Amino acid sequence: MLEVRGLHVSYYTLGGVIRAVRGVSFRVSPGKGLCIVGESGSGKTTLGLAIAGALPPNARASRGSVRIDGANILELGPEDLERVRGSLVSMVFQDPAASFNPLFTIGQTLGDIARHKLGLAERSEAREAALAALRRVGMPDPERVLDAYPHELSGGMLQRVAIAAAILPRPKVLVADEPTTMLDVTLQYQILKLLNRLKETLGLALVFITHNLGIAAEVCEDILVLYAGHMVELGPTDKVLEEPLHPYTQALIECIPRIDRGPGRLKPIPGSMPDPRRLPGGCVFHPRCPHVMDICRERDPRPVALDKRVVSCLLYNGEKGGAR
Ligand SMILES: Nc1ncnc2c1ncn2[C@@H]1O[C@H](COP(=O)(O)OP(=O)(O)OP(=O)(O)O)[C@@H](O)[C@H]1O
Ligand SMILES: [Mg+2]
Repeated sequence: MLEVRGLHVSYYTLGGVIRAVRGVSFRVSPGKGLCIVGESGSGKTTLGLAIAGALPPNARASRGSVRIDGANILELGPEDLERVRGSLVSMVFQDPAASFNPLFTIGQTLGDIARHKLGLAERSEAREAALAALRRVGMPDPERVLDAYPHELSGGMLQRVAIAAAILPRPKVLVADEPTTMLDVTLQYQILKLLNRLKETLGLALVFITHNLGIAAEVCEDILVLYAGHMVELGPTDKVLEEPLHPYTQALIECIPRIDRGPGRLKPIPGSMPDPRRLPGGCVFHPRCPHVMDICRERDPRPVALDKRVVSCLLYNGEKGGAR
């Protein structure tokens, strides 16, 4: 079980402090998926890195907790963190080529992981574990792939290998950060199917990051919508997509290209995300919100539970008698 509670993450830069994640809470059970969606810069990757215990040195999780089976990732020292990475939580990225050393064969890279994370000292044992991981991700001709160098594989194959590398140490949580963005549509679909199958057969808690709400529906039971680091809506995927409560979620759904709308009818969300160093007072979404009320400029909405969901919007905070 993955449980994130009241998480805040900031980056410390020469230009000031960037508050990238501001009070996010959710749970993901084994065998289930949570999708994190939001525009560019909303804090999706930062949240993923915090869960994977892989924040860069200039980032700090200042408040909250990230628990996997009870252990708080944020409290671990460097050695414990190194032990936990892979065996408790793994991460897959958008560009698989960036996560492989080009000088090593796939067999060497996967073998290393098997040795360090599974403690398989024998070469043959490590090779067998690597092969098993490749078979698990449906890699055709896995023996040949072991002897290949990263540049000899296509983007789709390499992403499959990256997923094999991530599941090899048998983690409980898998964070996938836009893993299909660089692939063509057919391959995207195959990778989504693969992640779905893995989460079910291995009992993984899957955190799937995407800016594409249409993709979210394919893999995840639940959706978390982020806006400028704030959790604006969290709930079951079908509910959120069919009847979004937050005006930002409503706007995001309007942006999904649909056949019946035809070309040129795609509606962008007016305005842009605020500068994270100068977030507006009150509700962070108020400058772009079509339903903005006076109170939204002053008061920060607190998350409220409503219709199997959590939504952070003053339309639902009762100030206006719960009006929508
Ligand atoms: N290493 C870093 N140092 C300083 N600021 C950072 C760093 N990484 C991200 N940020 C800032 O943190 C905020 C959240 O960024 P993040 O990458 O988490 O967003 P995202 O939702 O993943 O965006 P995208 O869809 O473009 O991948 C942004 O304002 C970004 O500029
Ligand atoms: Mg990102």
